[in-house]
Formats: sequence, C-alpha cells, structure tokens
Amino acid sequence: METIENFNKLNSIKPREPLALIPTMGNLHEGHLSLIRHAKKLNLSTIVSIFINPLQFGPSEDFSKYPRTLEKDLDLLRKEQCDFVFIPDDKELLLDIKNLEAPLNDVLCGKSRPGHFDGVLTIVNRFIEVIKPDFCIFGQKDFQQQLIIKEHLKKINSITQLIVHPIVRDKNGLALSSRNNFLSEPRKVKAAKIYFHLKEIAEQILDFDRGNHKFLEHIKIIKDFYQTKYSEEGFEVDYLELLNASSLESLKEGDKEILIAVAINYEGVRLIDNICLTRPIS
Ligand code: PAJ
Repeated sequence: METIENFNKLNSIKPREPLALIPTMGNLHEGHLSLIRHAKKLNLSTIVSIFINPLQFGPSEDFSKYPRTLEKDLDLLRKEQCDFVFIPDDKELLLDIKNLEAPLNDVLCGKSRPGHFDGVLTIVNRFIEVIKPDFCIFGQKDFQQQLIIKEHLKKINSITQLIVHPIVRDKNGLALSSRNNFLSEPRKVKAAKIYFHLKEIAEQILDFDRGNHKFLEHIKIIKDFYQTKYSEEGFEVDYLELLNASSLESLKEGDKEILIAVAINYEGVRLIDNICLTRPIS
C-alpha cells in the first residue's frame, strides 16, 4: 500500500485498474472495510482517504472527541490490500477550497445539523477534483449523504460514478459506526432495537399494501406509533421519517421506493439508521 500525503505524490500515482475512491474519517471498522472489499470484487484499484473533516462538524459537535486511530487504520488497510491511502495535509487540502451548498439538505440530518452536508459535499468534491477517480464508493448507512453526492455528480457532469454499498451491522443488527465506541456493550445490545423497529415498520408498510388500506393514513399512524415506542424505550428521537427515497420529499399515495430513516440520541450518542424498501405495487 502506498501512502500519499500531498498533491504532488497524488499526481504521480499509477493505478493498475480503474480507480475507486473511498472517503473516510478513519477509525475504520467492518463497515468501511466492506467498501474496500466491494471495490476489489469489482476489480477496482482502491484509494482510501482518511481525513477528519472539520467543515462538517457543528460548533457543539464532537470534532475534538472524534476517535483518531491512524496506526490501527493503516494496519487494517494493509490487511485488506488497499492500494493507496490518502492522508492529506489539511492546509493543502483546504487552501482556496470551493465552499458548496448541498442539495436535498432541508430534511433529516440536513435539518438537524445545519451546515453539515455543505461541509461534507465541499470536502468530497475537493477529493474528487484532486483524485479524479473513476468511481467513488459510499455506504447506505449515510443515506442522505450518498444521495447528495449522487445529485452533485449528476449536476457537474462528473466522470466519477457513484457506487453505494449496503449497511454492515453487528450480530444484533446495530449498524456499525465509529460512534458505537462511545456505548458500553449492554447499551449496544439495547441500541439494536433501533434497527429491530425499522424492520417492523418496513413489514407493516408491506402488510398494509397487501390489504386495501389508505396508504398515507397508515404511514402517519405507523410513524406516530414508533416515535412513541422509541421514546418509551429510552431513546431520544431526533427524527423518524418515511420519505420518497429519491427526492426525500413527503410520501405520495403511489410512491414505490420508500426510505425509512431514523436518528436517535442514546446516552449522548447520535445514532442513525435506515431501511430502503420497494413497495410491490405497479
Ligand atoms: P465515515 O463516517 O468515516 O464513513 C465513511 C464511509 O463509510 C461512508 O460512505 C459511510 O456511509 C460508510 N459506512 C460507515 N459505516 C458503515 C456501515 N455500517 N456499513 C456500510 N458503510 C458504512 O461518512 C463520512 O465518513 C464522511 O462524511 C466523509 C464522506 C468521509 C466526508 O468527510
């Protein structure tokens, strides 16, 4: 694996296969590693960036607390036979950076974390500008993030194509996240309920479709019911939303692709998860 720390070196690399960029903030876990394995399966060369992006943290958020585990991350990347790791110098990376405004930003995490996705898009766009990868790979875990990147790449007619990889979970169903490190083992077990209820919601939507009920009325009933259920179980719900999975707009009667997305604060840790489902309607 080659380590790249500046643009000069970046410009000199010669990947053997089409190049896939996998942007990360480090503290790598199986979720991140699955993105590399996916690229390998597709016969792509891999460049993983590790950069804790200050632009995407709000003033009261956890930038300074964000886990920094570079040596361990590099070991993991070597084991995965990652081709390149890009650990940019922040001054070089941020110099004259073009600040972008993210689309699809007035709902979900965009609404709760003002400026967050502008910061994400600004940095990802910078990576794409300087690396010019053939592909970039993102996890479905951050559903809104990948959708914003997809819209942006389309808007700028980028040569870089987006690949999205499913969410990797622990054995109880909790979506892997660097923030899980802040939870004790018993709390991780309890936090698996977040996904458990998402699955129940998905099943209930599909069940209603088998009957002859009014879809939007039931969506509202399900949403109210599970918001209360999460609260009763000790989760502080930031949002629970059921939206059109492409536009992130409110659902309409005939919508087929549905995003069920949740953000929970649990014992001071922000956890997000989602399920995307296709209704069996014509
Ligand atoms: P980070 O949280 O490190 O995540 C890097 C990538 O790993 C993202 O595409 C994310 O969706 C994916 N990922 C994280 N957990 C996953 C899981 N359990 N299953 C599948 N994929 C998972 O997302 C960011 O960093 C930053 O916003 C970044 C894009 C790097 C810009 O700074």
